Amino acid sequence: MNKILEVIKNRRSTRSYKEEQVKKDEIMALLEAGAWAPSGHNKQPWQFTVVQNKELIKKMSDRSKYTAKDAEKEKMRKMANNPDFNIFHKAPTVIIVSHKNDAITPLEDISAATENILLQAESMGLGTCWSAFIFGIFRGPEKEEFIKYLEILEGHTLHHAIAVGYPNAKVFNYPERKNDYFNFIK
Ligand SMILES: Cc1cc2nc3c(=O)[nH]c(=O)nc-3n(C[C@H](O)[C@H](O)[C@H](O)COP(=O)(O)O)c2cc1C
Repeated sequence: MNKILEVIKNRRSTRSYKEEQVKKDEIMALLEAGAWAPSGHNKQPWQFTVVQNKELIKKMSDRSKYTAKDAEKEKMRKMANNPDFNIFHKAPTVIIVSHKNDAITPLEDISAATENILLQAESMGLGTCWSAFIFGIFRGPEKEEFIKYLEILEGHTLHHAIAVGYPNAKVFNYPERKNDYFNFIK
């Protein structure tokens, strides 16, 4: 199989990690992959904040859960009210993805960068999981507090997070892919 397709197909969201911390040079390789993503008008508006501080990671998880404790969706509510649940699945590293406010296509840009990071990680034997659960604090009134904790630069917006770590075991859960995703116009 083509090497890139193999990495793409092998990447799975990892939800169980070893405690061992990810090395700085490995993190740097992930960020480099992120920074080589395409971006609208070549704005490269992404900013990656690497968090390896256990207390801060737990605070982000706990506070995000608190915002979802009465969520409309039962699945969210269940996770939020489960004392054992950690929104980053106990990954030792969390990369916070934010973007410059003057970008033309910020969400497309940071999503492309994020996927690059996930694929680079897979190719290095690291596990990752995209985290939108953190929206609870990044979009609510607590945002300002976390901008301070995370030393987010002026003129940037917090968006999502990526959990990173050594996977506890290769994930064998392969969510099915639908088969109605293309059409050829004759
Ligand atoms: C925008 C976005 C947000 C996501 N947020 C979460 C999340 O908060 N928690 C989580 O465990 N997985 C999250 N995921 C991972 C998806 O659940 C996962 O990609 C999907 O189920 C397909 O599984 P796969 O990544 O193993 O292919 C997110 C994925 C995307 C693209």
